[in-house]
Amino acid sequence: MSNEVKKDTKDLLEQDRRDFVIGATQAVGAVGAVCAAYPFVKSMSPAENVKALSTTEVDISEIAEGETKTVMWRGRPVFIRHRTADEISAMEKDDAATGERALLDPQTDESRVQKKEWLVTMAVCTHLGCVPMEGGNFDGWLCPCHGSQFDASGRVRRGPAPTNLEVPPYTFLDDSTIKIG
Ligand code: FES
Repeated sequence: MSNEVKKDTKDLLEQDRRDFVIGATQAVGAVGAVCAAYPFVKSMSPAENVKALSTTEVDISEIAEGETKTVMWRGRPVFIRHRTADEISAMEKDDAATGERALLDPQTDESRVQKKEWLVTMAVCTHLGCVPMEGGNFDGWLCPCHGSQFDASGRVRRGPAPTNLEVPPYTFLDDSTIKIG
């Protein structure tokens, strides 16, 4: 075997060893996390377990006016937007928009929020499920996949999305905490 081939073989063996050590470390870490969580989960009744997994509590005190926080609920993203006074009045005005600005899936802004300054809506485009990003012409979101636009009430304003963004079930636990689910 030439010296060069020997060196390549040695390098490969060394890489394999490194991969094994990294993999083993990650596996031990994951087992540790599960073990740490187990006593906590075990202390809950089966009904509480299911409830804890199906709800998400969010501290909204840090979300500044005009900003949106994205959180996960049941494995899907949810937008929580702290709306400005201008956005609220524009959305209320658009309840009755006609012509080019007419709502494609008519719903009043009021029917989509519990408190005017807070919009809570699924961050899942109702066309084919992409996650919209901030932008578009309606103070809201633009879907990067096929260009649907949603306003600051989560209502679809440009297709192909057929319906407004879904509003998940949620509750205000107090002025700074929302429980989704
Ligand atoms: S998935 Fe959003 S427009 Fe198609």
